Amino acid sequence: MKIKNICCIGAGYVGGPTMAVIAHKCPDIKVTIVDINEQRIADWNNEDVSKLPIYEPGLADIVLSARGKNLFFSTDIEKAINEAEMIFISVNTPTKTYGVGKGMAADLKYIELCARQIAEVAKDDKIVVEKSTLPVRTAQAIKNILENTGNGVNFQILSNPEFLAEGTAIDDLLHPDRVLIGGDTDEAGQKAIGALVDVYANWISRDKILTTNVWSSELSKLTANAFLAQRVSSINAMSELCEKTGADVNEVAKAIGMDSRIGSKFLKSSVGFGGSCFQKDILNLVYIAKSYGLNEVADYWEQVIIMNDHQKRRFGANIVKTLYNTVSGKKIAFLGWAFKKDTNDTRESASIYVADDLLYEQANIAVYDPKVKEKAIYRDLNYLSTRTEEENKKGVTVHIDPYEACKDAHAIAVLTEWDEFKTYDWQKIYDNMKKPAFVFDGRNILDEGALRDIGFIFQGIGK
Ligand code: NAD
Ligand code: UDX
Repeated sequence: MKIKNICCIGAGYVGGPTMAVIAHKCPDIKVTIVDINEQRIADWNNEDVSKLPIYEPGLADIVLSARGKNLFFSTDIEKAINEAEMIFISVNTPTKTYGVGKGMAADLKYIELCARQIAEVAKDDKIVVEKSTLPVRTAQAIKNILENTGNGVNFQILSNPEFLAEGTAIDDLLHPDRVLIGGDTDEAGQKAIGALVDVYANWISRDKILTTNVWSSELSKLTANAFLAQRVSSINAMSELCEKTGADVNEVAKAIGMDSRIGSKFLKSSVGFGGSCFQKDILNLVYIAKSYGLNEVADYWEQVIIMNDHQKRRFGANIVKTLYNTVSGKKIAFLGWAFKKDTNDTRESASIYVADDLLYEQANIAVYDPKVKEKAIYRDLNYLSTRTEEENKKGVTVHIDPYEACKDAHAIAVLTEWDEFKTYDWQKIYDNMKKPAFVFDGRNILDEGALRDIGFIFQGIGK
């Protein structure tokens, strides 16, 4: 079966870039991305591609190459479902904020709504692809919903988790380490898998397209994120020990990373990992393990989160301690708000929690981030409900000029590893700060020696 028409439900950080790349690489396939968020769809359709809802290096060019030809963004969900042979579900699966599993389990209400809508609308056979990250065995629930419509339509459910990282999404999609597709082991399941393999084979060599049963595929996604986050928590645990012992975490990371069994990637010590995936997916894994009575498995993975929370907390606490045990009324400049460089995404960014702790200590925070908008920064803080919106407005200012953000500051905290921070005129920044002038480099990106020579009191992570 050759796929000619694809629909993707969810025009977010995954649906948008993933489908844009499929459309770009497969000119014979019509790809329609739909969403209930009208503003988001309007932004994807904006003539001015600098206004796309997501910032990713290379994304605008890919969208421009296919939009209006074989790539469409729409709010007409029913029409797109109806026309498609293959439907990707790429909606959000956040941590539940209510009811059983609150704060741990994945909230699958958006997934279920999609399945119900597909069941209601579909008039002919469809392949439904789970693109969202889902708890293992979700495909069974989707199947139950789809198979009980009584309208004679046949559905195949595939799991095709997405491994792209934000900030490098386009490169990750164009040159993935592997593509994973899980499906039923019977003949119909294998046929559906084959149809999706053929889509990816337009630009990815077949030996990199891995096919498994559907449960292995679902669980591999949670496992991959748990292993990656665990590496960051492991090196961050060592960073605290380095600070006590005179070891340097960068040297330790290099020394262990050269062991090919360990590998050098994902060993950068930081103020703590953020992003919409790691915490949510590990909490979900912990919840699943507990639901099977596997308490030791649950405790093991929960430590990754406990360590990460500790790393964020101790960064803020160290600022307070170093600034003579008080930051009340002092200006602290934040360089970076996004959870990593090259993205405008701020979900679960460490900066939010460090800011919250410092606001609790009555600091005044001045934020500069090259891609994050003022609105997003206040939204992140207001979402915590620690204080009123007015209080957040009073405690935090947002700047479009980094030098302005740092002017008259008592200290600078680097929260995101944006490359441009390395190129600033640090002498000028120093001259305009209160003395002694402190820098807390939560990403270990600045030139420590050069900053010390200027006169800064400098602290990195794990040194
Ligand atoms: P997102 O919040 O950016 O996008 C999800 C979109 O789905 C939103 O625009 C929302 O309006 C839309 N939506 C929700 N319910 C809908 C419905 N019933 N009909 C139509 N549209 C609906 O989320 P995201 O970051 O793209 O993540 C999507 C999924 O992919 C999640 O399961 C996530 O865990 C997974 N994932 C994310 C990343 C990442 O880097 N962000 C990477 C891999 C996997
Ligand atoms: C992650 C996974 O990498 C990706 O495969 C999955 O599809 C989605 O979740 P993402 O969250 O976009 O991607 O970015 P990632 O590069 O993994 O970084 C996550 C967080 O860990 C960031 O806050 C980053 O700064 C931090 N990190 C990463 C470190 O602190 N040190 C490292 O060595 C690597």
